[in-house]
Amino acid sequence: MANHETILEAKGIYKSFSGVPVLQDVRFEVRRGEVHALMGENGAGKSTLIKIITGVYTKDDGQIYWEGKPVEINNYQDCQKLGVACIYQELSVIPPLTVAQNVFLGREPKNAFGLIDHKKMNEMTQELIDKYEFPLKPTTIVDNLGIGQRQLIEILKGLSQNSKLLIMDEPTASLSGKEAEMLFRIITTLREQNVSIIYISHRLEEVYRLSDRLTILRDGKNEAVLQKEEIVPAKVIKTMIGKEVDESAGSKKMLHSEDTEVRLDVQNLTDKADRFRNISFQVHRGEILGFGGLIGAGRTELVRAIYGVDQAQSGTVILDGKTLSPSPKNSILAGIGFVPEDRRNQGFIPLLSTTRNVALTNYDILPKNGLSVSDAAELEMSKKAISSIDIRPADPGKQVGVMSGGNQQKVVLGKWLMRDLNLLIVDEPTAGIDVGAKDEIYRILEDLARQGVAVIVVTSDLQELIRVSHRILVMRKGDIVKEFKNVEVTQSKVLAAGQGVAEEEEAS
Ligand SMILES: Nc1ncnc2c1ncn2[C@@H]1O[C@H](COP(=O)(O)OP(=O)(O)OP(=O)(O)O)[C@@H](O)[C@H]1O
Ligand SMILES: [Mg+2]
Repeated sequence: MANHETILEAKGIYKSFSGVPVLQDVRFEVRRGEVHALMGENGAGKSTLIKIITGVYTKDDGQIYWEGKPVEINNYQDCQKLGVACIYQELSVIPPLTVAQNVFLGREPKNAFGLIDHKKMNEMTQELIDKYEFPLKPTTIVDNLGIGQRQLIEILKGLSQNSKLLIMDEPTASLSGKEAEMLFRIITTLREQNVSIIYISHRLEEVYRLSDRLTILRDGKNEAVLQKEEIVPAKVIKTMIGKEVDESAGSKKMLHSEDTEVRLDVQNLTDKADRFRNISFQVHRGEILGFGGLIGAGRTELVRAIYGVDQAQSGTVILDGKTLSPSPKNSILAGIGFVPEDRRNQGFIPLLSTTRNVALTNYDILPKNGLSVSDAAELEMSKKAISSIDIRPADPGKQVGVMSGGNQQKVVLGKWLMRDLNLLIVDEPTAGIDVGAKDEIYRILEDLARQGVAVIVVTSDLQELIRVSHRILVMRKGDIVKEFKNVEVTQSKVLAAGQGVAEEEEAS
């Protein structure tokens, strides 16, 4: 249990990027054996503070103390030596390597000849996998895994270091309820073993549930430190974003949908790799159709095939009565927008600015001088995207790769709002988005639906699924196993369907 011994303290931390202050006189203190949540809006400076603590960024000023003594942490090795491990918000797994190679990267066990002992490394990884009961295999090539499983690999890597302090920056952003539950059990065990945890998450229920204390940053400055008894929804949200948000809409809801005109008609769609099969469903004009299910249920693969990033084995996709031959180009021309789950690799180009990222998707509708698009028109569109979804900082020239996680997500969604859409498919639309901005995004999806757009939302966040959907389909192991239509839906009903548990025995 938490005692009052301070393990890590950061004092007077300052950091600017290109003259823009991001952290100002920040103080942060973590005790031994506590789960300390670090909260704040998108862009508040949480990840930057973590990167300073772990030696990824240099601070402009301030001091870090470890177990009471001043320390200089200049790189990640320095922090590992102290007993600090970090699971960063941007996943750093290397796709061509195996799960085991990723977990032990840079720390590989060697044989008598000084060569990497692959057999031992696989065994050690298997032990970890068994210990934490993660659905992974040591020898799988990461390239074949979805983002949720990649996140589990990062977590495994962090856990394998037997640290005194484990920092997790949005560890559950791509996990479904079941995997997240596994992580919470692990966190509880670690806390019992006196390990300290810094926990960053925009899924507030997790924070209420797990944290012993909570530090809130606002615009790069300390706003408050809340004690356990103060960690209640209204107080946390108000302190974090300065206004109140009603979160209760996501626990249960009476679903309501009408069989208006069919916009999207998917018939017998089957995946080449058997990750989904014979999928048929329709989305109507103005309808928000939610897809629930566990990681690996095939939802992401299904929507990728509809949009045409992957080719399906067989089946038909019909939009407004016209059969499509799905490919990203055809989909864009047909008025389909797509926000992929893996925003970093598929949603934007990190080295380019917001302006260029928005322009790339909308090249066909930007006014041209001869063959080239006018810079002024690009800039104007980018400014429109920035204001339509409140991208911060409102700087069209900023490289998207260095923007905060939540703001990157807003760029990926914002660029589609510049077009006339018939169908919008969003996969984990609010991963990493703060509670205030989430509400904003739900409002945008509802507005689009009111204008007649058909919307598909894939989300692992049950609260979100229930909050936004007019109708819900649940997938399990590549099949649609349940439809919730014009009935009362609760989180446990969706969960039970996703796990293949009969409703009578559903866990409440
Ligand atoms: N390498 C960088 N170069 C320039 N600006 C940066 C860099 N890293 C972060 N920033 C800026 O610093 C500010 C704080 O970003 P940070 O990533 O710390 O926010 P955050 O609190 O983690 O937000 P989120 O909840 O969205 O992840 C943002 O305005 C961001 O654009
Ligand atoms: Mg962050």
